[in-house]
Amino acid sequence: MSKIKIAPSLLAADFGNLQRDIEMVENSTADWHHIDVMDGVFVPNISYGMPVVKTINTHAKKPLDVHLMIVDPDRYIKTFADLGAANLTVHYEACTHLHRTLQAIKAEGMKAGVALNPHTNINLLEDIINDIDIVLIMSVNPGFGGQSFIENTYTKVKALKALIQKKGANTIIEIDGGVTASNAKALHDAGADVLVAGSFVFNSENPTQTIKELKEATA
Ligand code: DX5
Ligand code: ZN
Repeated sequence: MSKIKIAPSLLAADFGNLQRDIEMVENSTADWHHIDVMDGVFVPNISYGMPVVKTINTHAKKPLDVHLMIVDPDRYIKTFADLGAANLTVHYEACTHLHRTLQAIKAEGMKAGVALNPHTNINLLEDIINDIDIVLIMSVNPGFGGQSFIENTYTKVKALKALIQKKGANTIIEIDGGVTASNAKALHDAGADVLVAGSFVFNSENPTQTIKELKEATA
């Protein structure tokens, strides 16, 4: 089985040393920079916005994996394309016309992602899965780093993998929230292709080594 992709979440970085932390990710075996944008409406927290994403892009060469936890994300699709996002993930629960939103993301040259809250059933994607590049399964309630992993995630990942195969889709599965070296292998075995990890990476003594461990836990 191929190695999993690792996307450290910069939400857990030291914002006073953002350039240093971006460069740490650049010089590690990580694959993407995961960037959490929150609006204080869709989720009860506000993270950071466009000027910070612009700064991240100045120092990053690896793809920017942008996770929008905002209502009505259609308003900002072009903005994030211009800011350098490679992947743009919107929440299923925040989109009234998801098909249209996904086409708009792709028209801007980005990979289109759909995130599901812990309570949202994967079968709701049955009629749209072939249009989705990435499904991001939230394994905590979105809004904050450092929460504990919800165990029902394994069942969801397996069911989603089966749906992707049944539909002959090329969609990849990303997991976000509470990821550690203790659940990385089980998530990969269940069908995950990308793991986001925030506090587990940035609060560790040696983040570069922690990224390597996460990647190797699934080899
Ligand atoms: C939560 C964010 C996550 C968060 C993960 O709403 O989407 O990306 O940064 O943080 P950890 O890995 O600490 O759970
Ligand atoms: Zn995220």
